[in-house]
Amino acid sequence: MNKTSDIQYYSAPGRVCLYGEHQDYLKLKVVPAAINLRTIVGIKDNGLESIRVKSREMGSSDEFSISKKINLAKNEFDYLRAIIITMQKEDLVDNLTGLDVTIESSIPIGSGLSSSAALLVAWATALNDRFQLDLNIEKIALLCFKAENHILGVNCGIMDQYSSSLGGIIGLDCDGPPYEISKYTTDFSGLIIGDSCVRRSANEPLTVLKNQLYSGIENLQKVTPFNLKKITFEELKRAKASIAPNEYKRLHGTIVIRDLTEEALRNLAKKNTHNLPLLGELLTKQQDALRDLLEVSIPELDNLVIASLKAGALGAKLTGAGYGGCIIALAPGKEKEVAVAIENAGGKAIICQVDPEGGKKEK
Ligand code: GLA
Repeated sequence: MNKTSDIQYYSAPGRVCLYGEHQDYLKLKVVPAAINLRTIVGIKDNGLESIRVKSREMGSSDEFSISKKINLAKNEFDYLRAIIITMQKEDLVDNLTGLDVTIESSIPIGSGLSSSAALLVAWATALNDRFQLDLNIEKIALLCFKAENHILGVNCGIMDQYSSSLGGIIGLDCDGPPYEISKYTTDFSGLIIGDSCVRRSANEPLTVLKNQLYSGIENLQKVTPFNLKKITFEELKRAKASIAPNEYKRLHGTIVIRDLTEEALRNLAKKNTHNLPLLGELLTKQQDALRDLLEVSIPELDNLVIASLKAGALGAKLTGAGYGGCIIALAPGKEKEVAVAIENAGGKAIICQVDPEGGKKEK
C-alpha cells in the first residue's frame, strides 16, 4: 500500500449558465461560465483489484472490482463507474489498477451549479493523468457527457461537461460533434449566486421539458418544415393551431432564449467594449422566458431574482434546469448589497468569480 504522500489531487469547477438555458439538447448555442467552486478528487494506488471511494459531502462510500465487468450500482458513486464504463466502451483504458479515491466538493449538490459534471470531469481528469490516456480537455468533456447521458440516463445536453472541463466563459455551439467553441475574456466580475436551498434532481425539469419540446418539434414539422436555428416567432404563431398549447409555449420560450443568446454572443464578441448593462438585461429577459414560457422557475427563485434586481443587480436569472437550485445575479460593485438582499429574501448568497481553469491536476 502506498503512503499518504502519494495521494494526487485533481479538480474541476462548477458552472453557471449565463445564456442559453435549455438550448444545448436542441443543438442551439449556450454561454456557460465556470465558477470558483470546485470538486476535488484524490487518488492513491491501493495495490488491489478494486476502486474504493469515500466522500465526506455524500457521507458514504463505495467499492467496486475492476477485474470484472463494471455495472452501475444505483448509488451516488455511479458517476465514477459510468466514466470507466464509457472509457472501456471506447477502448480508451486497458491498464486500470486499483485506486483509493476521496471526493470533496464546495459545490452544493442538486443546486443547478453542475456538481455532477464537476465530479465527472475531475475523475476523468484523474484517470487520464494516472493511466496516461492522452485525452485532451474536449475529449474529456465529451466522455463525461456520454457517461452522464448515455450511461446514467440523464436527459442533459453537453453544456455542463464542456464548461467544467474547459473552464472560463465559453460560447458553445451544440450542433456537433465537432462542437464550435469560443472563449471570452469579458469581465463578469460581480457574480452572486443565490441558492434557494430547494433541492431537486435536474433530470425532473429536463425530462418534462425535453419531452414537450421534442413532441412540439415533431408536430410542427408535420405542418411546416422548419429549422429551429432560424424559425421566427411569427412563423411559429402561424402554426399555433396545429400544436398543443404547452408545446407552443415551450417552443416560443426556446426561440426567445435562442435570440437573447445570439444577442449576448454578438456583444461578447466585441472585444473590450462589452455593454454590461445590456448583458445584465439579457439575463433578466431570459428569466422572464424561463418563468412564463418554459415554466421551470419557482416562486423561491423568482423572489431571489426580484430581490437582486431591487438591490441594484444589472440582471439575474435562474441557472441550470430549474424547479429549484440557484439564481445568478450580475452586480459589479454591488456584490454586498445583492448578497444581503438574497439572504433577506430567504436564500443563501455566495459571491463568486469566473474560474478561468477547467479540469486540472492540483499542484
Ligand atoms: C442541466 C443540463 C444541461 C442543460 C441545463 C439547462 O444543467 O445538464 O445540459 O440542459 O440543465 O440549460
